[in-house]
Amino acid sequence: MSQSTLSTARLELLPLSAEHKEFLYLLDSNPEVMKYIGYGKPLTADESGIVLNHLLETATSGSGLGTWAGFADGEFVGWWVLAPSQTDDTPPKLNNDRAVFGFRVAPNFWGQGFAKEASRELLKHGFQELGVREVLGDTMAINAGSRATMATCGLRHIRTFHNQYDNPPPGIEEGEVEYRITKDEWLALRK
Ligand SMILES: CC(C)(COP(=O)(O)OP(=O)(O)OC[C@H]1O[C@@H](n2cnc3c(N)ncnc32)[C@H](O)[C@@H]1OP(=O)(O)O)[C@@H](O)C(=O)NCCC(=O)NCCS
Repeated sequence: MSQSTLSTARLELLPLSAEHKEFLYLLDSNPEVMKYIGYGKPLTADESGIVLNHLLETATSGSGLGTWAGFADGEFVGWWVLAPSQTDDTPPKLNNDRAVFGFRVAPNFWGQGFAKEASRELLKHGFQELGVREVLGDTMAINAGSRATMATCGLRHIRTFHNQYDNPPPGIEEGEVEYRITKDEWLALRK
């Protein structure tokens, strides 16, 4: 199944393509956007290209999962990903039932409800159309915006964990958090 174009009240969500490279770099090169991501620092153009390739790969499982670029009145707002997770096998296999969720919104659109608007559409698409059974998301514990976005979409905090990194971003001492929603929980919220 190929990835569908989706829409919400204000957003057109297009399957991410290589043509969106400049839009991704706009986010990846912004210190505010990257404060709680990776090493907590802006990326170079080359590093952003690697992220783009990684995001493009999320659509290659043929499950309809992938990454979407969101536009409001033709203007780039951000991207959202709903990707297959990886199993613990060696080598890992893709698991389309268990999807991993994430997002970035351009700062000039923050605080206007765009992150949750597109996120809710992706969850609905995943659970209703793509056979997803469970959606997981993680972020740094101090990333209040990301946590609030996941929570307002119905995901619940299930654990806090501490990984070791060579060049950890400031604030990692508080750990990272994992959020989750199952299809049954999502259906129950809609009643
Ligand atoms: C996190 C982010 C996606 C939020 O985008 P947004 O479009 O401003 O979010 P929304 O307006 O849809 O808000 C969603 C919810 O989060 C809350 N929220 C948003 N930013 C917040 C912040 N900085 N602190 C606390 N709550 C915040 C909103 O009040 C809203 O909650 P509600 O529905 O209970 O009222 C955006 O700030 C961003 O892209 N940040 C940088 C990248 C990032 O950290 N991505 C996540 C990586 S895991």
